[in-house]
Amino acid sequence: MQLRLPLLTAAVLASTACAQVRAPLYEPADGKVLFGAWVDTEDPSTNATNIGIGGDSPVKFNQRLGSNAAVFHFSQRLPLDISPYTQEEMTVPLKLVEDTATDAILFITVYPIAWTYTDKDVQKLAWQLGNITDPSLSNRRVMLRFAPEMNGNWFSYGQQPTRFVQEYKRIVDNIRSVTSRVSFVWAPNAADGYPFGVPLAAYELSALDTNKNGALDYGDDPFTPYWPGEDYVDWVGISLYWKGNPATGTPPHDNSASPADYWEQMVQGGPSGSNPAFPFYDMFALKYNKPLVMPEGGAAFALTQAPNNTPLPANVGQVKIQQTFWKSYLGVLSKYPKAKMFINFEYLKLNEDPVANANNGVTRDYRITWDSATVAALKADLSALGSTVQWASSPGSSSTPGNSVSTTSKSSACTSVFGVSLLATLAVLFV
Ligand SMILES: *[C@@H]1O[C@H](CO)[C@@H](O)[C@H](O)[C@H]1NC(C)=O
Ligand SMILES: *[C@@H]1O[C@H](CO)[C@@H](O)[C@H](O)[C@H]1NC(C)=O
Repeated sequence: MQLRLPLLTAAVLASTACAQVRAPLYEPADGKVLFGAWVDTEDPSTNATNIGIGGDSPVKFNQRLGSNAAVFHFSQRLPLDISPYTQEEMTVPLKLVEDTATDAILFITVYPIAWTYTDKDVQKLAWQLGNITDPSLSNRRVMLRFAPEMNGNWFSYGQQPTRFVQEYKRIVDNIRSVTSRVSFVWAPNAADGYPFGVPLAAYELSALDTNKNGALDYGDDPFTPYWPGEDYVDWVGISLYWKGNPATGTPPHDNSASPADYWEQMVQGGPSGSNPAFPFYDMFALKYNKPLVMPEGGAAFALTQAPNNTPLPANVGQVKIQQTFWKSYLGVLSKYPKAKMFINFEYLKLNEDPVANANNGVTRDYRITWDSATVAALKADLSALGSTVQWASSPGSSSTPGNSVSTTSKSSACTSVFGVSLLATLAVLFV
């Protein structure tokens, strides 16, 4: 008896959902995952953003890994930055992905600078993505992560959920009016340590104080105030990093390995700091049946510390640090079947996290394909997963799975949801 009502409700909800929500664009088949990187392609002679050492490329990444990554991540700003060197607008370097001669997905993060863009800037972004995805032009699959880590206090647009939702929808609506081939990623930061210390001046307490105790604190829901609704989201994402044991120093630099279940703790909550009352995977990936991406993430091997570039003890060492981190997700894929894409932050990051008024930043190596022992361990662990890992293919080769924007995938998902709902309805009628 208890079963009947939920089943009937589920059936009604499922058929409603069928009418409105399209299947997430570029989601691989169940049992498949996509692996890739955010490589540091900055030109070292013109280091305009200068957070790393530059000089890398998707082609070089594939060569080091010995496989064709399925996705490459780049970022640009809104409005676009102008290069001080060439005076050109700094858009993502599409050519570097085309150089791989594969069908890798171009994953683009767009950072809005304090919401200071105009309708014209938005239109330009929509056209840019329309051109990149146009089958008669570049014909490349694009995933767009707009205003990521919006629940953090480190970007000017952070912790302003009402404005975020309004702007996120504005971007999606504008792009959809130009092309249906962009997949939209909604991606807060992992909530370890939420609300991350001092709030921004512009933070929006009324919307963020979800437990209504008058303060923004660890007991508040770090995600839901920013949720734009399932119609606006193809993938959900969480950025997460391991930088060392925070208990051993600020900024962390002890070269310890993360807990073995670190990824799981970051997406579901756990003692490493993410509040288990807000299990992201359950709340968004499972609840709305959306694939989950780690849009950026990695473990840091700390090399030196400012101000004198003092070499730091290796402790457990680079292989152990990085392998523990990637195993924390590659080892639990069957437990988290909606987790389908992982993008390593492939950077050597210079002088990161200096504490205010103390020049003690740490140079951290997040790269997993440079050190020979580390990349050997990575290749072994990826190859042990066999055909679970879906690599990019070369255009013209027989299998380019999930490459099309498919009305077929939309309608088949719709049919299957409808089929399930029909079955559920029948089950209710005949129990
Ligand atoms: C690149 O960055 C370094 C370190 O911040 C700086 O000293 C150098 O002037 C920069 N090079 C250019 C061309 O801006
Ligand atoms: C490509 O960009 C131009 C503007 O540069 C725009 O007029 C055109 O509509 C875009 N094409 C698509 C398919 O979005």
